[in-house]
Amino acid sequence: MLICAATNNQGKLKELRRILEAQGHEVKSLKELDIHIDPEENGETFAENAFIKAEAICKACGFATVADDSGLCVDALSGAPGVYSARYAGEHGNDDANNEKLLGALQGVAREKRTAQFVSAVCFMLPDGRHLTCEGQCPGWVSPDYRPGDYGFGYDPIFVPDGVGMPDGTVRPNTEERSYSQLTPDEKDAISHRGRAMKKLQMMLPLFLNG
Ligand code: IMP
Repeated sequence: MLICAATNNQGKLKELRRILEAQGHEVKSLKELDIHIDPEENGETFAENAFIKAEAICKACGFATVADDSGLCVDALSGAPGVYSARYAGEHGNDDANNEKLLGALQGVAREKRTAQFVSAVCFMLPDGRHLTCEGQCPGWVSPDYRPGDYGFGYDPIFVPDGVGMPDGTVRPNTEERSYSQLTPDEKDAISHRGRAMKKLQMMLPLFLNG
């Protein structure tokens, strides 16, 4: 199926594209479609914001659209930055400033209290307005120092997931405590919040489209 990946975030686009293509879909980005709208994300939940983005972009492109709204919810910060993850430090999408602010907010917090969840809501929207939203989560903790790797974006260098995806689809404990940035794309997609939300979407899509 032809699907528009409704995001201006290049890190997310890369992941959405590889997950959707692995599921057999043809993906078009906003850039490829020459669409330059950036709807205001004024929802209070990830699901509301994913819906806002999917609806606006689907109207603009006229075919099936998938939007993701995601963020990092830190337990010691009562769930912050949450839906404000992209603009935690003020300026939208400034990953370095966001990471610095988060490390500062957790300064002195012990390892066992640094637990957090990455959350993703993905909304699949059809031009007739029918839509399906799925959510995925990935538990882990926020490292006190940077663990840079070859991959990723956003909070990836400071987020350490509890599990690592295996080629057979199972998950093993992340005993070596690698950050999201230090996982290969396949390892991340198998356990990531976005990978899990997209897997649910893939499972529910046939019934949604034919039901
Ligand atoms: P939004 O969904 O466009 O509002 O932005 C979500 C923000 O959450 C991004 O700007 C990143 O800072 C962060 N984020 C979402 N998913 C990931 C991920 O997989 N790795 C690292 N950061 C992420």
